[in-house]
Parts: sequence; structure tokens; C-alpha cells
Amino acid sequence: MRAVALVRSGMHLGLGTGSTSRHAILELGRKVAAGELAGLTCVATSQASGVLARSLGLDVGPLTPQPFDLAIDGADEISPQLDLIKGLGGALVREKLVEVQARRLVIIADHTKLVSRLGEKAPLPIEVLSFGVDSSLERLRRLGAVGELRRAGGEFYVTDNGNLIFDARFGAADLLGLERTLKGTLGVVETGLFLGMAERAFVAAPDGVRELVRPE
Ligand code: A5P
Repeated sequence: MRAVALVRSGMHLGLGTGSTSRHAILELGRKVAAGELAGLTCVATSQASGVLARSLGLDVGPLTPQPFDLAIDGADEISPQLDLIKGLGGALVREKLVEVQARRLVIIADHTKLVSRLGEKAPLPIEVLSFGVDSSLERLRRLGAVGELRRAGGEFYVTDNGNLIFDARFGAADLLGLERTLKGTLGVVETGLFLGMAERAFVAAPDGVRELVRPE
């Protein structure tokens, strides 16, 4: 995997979440077991990724202010500017906390994640506190959000942080403005908008893997 080929011994790594990231973690574990990589320290963006990484013998620790040499993660939508929607896997808060500290954020995805504008296919996941959630959703709806609380198996989906996720659709074209507004809305913990964070993306298509680099 080309993203994992960027990993060098001794690196401090951010481990993503989701089915594509799972492949990257498995490949890292294989390389460590084979002696091709050593001295890695990792922080996982979800409990599931942490459990997987530890089971493969990777050194997984807590998030500290130490910058990451590299973070590798999937995405739900990728714009031509390499802005992202993330969080359909529910790990957006920990993903953002880790990846904002990454010197390099490398995205791995298949070509179905490429869109001409964010929100084209996927809703925008917004993590909200469960306390007073109806009031928080009312505030979001007054901002023009249309959507619903995520459910899993008939229950509300609960994140690793004990919060809920509102999967929202907005008409807004000004994503930076939308991000600021949402972050200023009481009850919102974090949004799945990852703007200006990804350095490059390796995108698998039927004719091979394309490398996309964020435009300057
Ligand atoms: C997890 O919260 C998400 O941000 C994932 O990175 C994203 O959903 C991609 O997942 P897949 O690789 O499973 O499509």
C-alpha cells in the first residue's frame, strides 16, 4: 500500500478508522512483524483501530502534544481541493484531534469518494452532546440543517466519546463559514469537515491507484 510505504522506522503515527484504514493498520502490523519497520509509536483514532493495532503488536499510546510524522486515514468524500467529509465511521472527533497534529495527513480511499463539492453524496456528520440533544438539533435546524440522528440496530449510535451523531445536509457553499458557525453552536462537539488538512490522497480506481496532492 503506497501510503504505508511512506512510513519509516521510528515514526510517530496517527492511525485512522474505517475499512480502508484497517488495511493500512494490517499492513503496518505485517511490516513490523517482518522486521521491515521498528520503533513506531502510534495513536489510534478509535477504540476499534486501537484494539486492532495492539493485536498486531503495534505500540499504541494516548494522544499527547507530540506532532505526528504521518497520519493515514480514510475519508467519506474528497473534494478537488482535498477537503474532506469524514465521520461516517463515527470517529470524527478523535480523527480530527489526531490529524490536526499531523505534519502529513495522507488519505486512502477508493474513487467513489471523489466528489466535485463536499456534500454531493454524503451527509455531514456532526457529533453532539446527548444532554439536551433536542435543543442542540433545534439550533442546527434553525441554521438550515436537514437530517437525523444516526441510529445503529434500532438504537441511537453512540460514539467512543459517549456522544451522538447528527447526519446533516446543508445548502451552504462557504464551508469555512459553515464550520465556524457549527463550531460556535452550543451542543456541537465537532464536525466531520476536514478543511485544508490533507496533504495527499491515494485513490484506488479500476485502472490503478491515483495520487492526488492538495493544490497550493
Ligand atoms: C471514520 O469516522 C471515518 O472518517 C472513516 O475514515 C471514513 O468513514 C472512511 O471509512 P471507509 O474506509 O470504511 O470507507
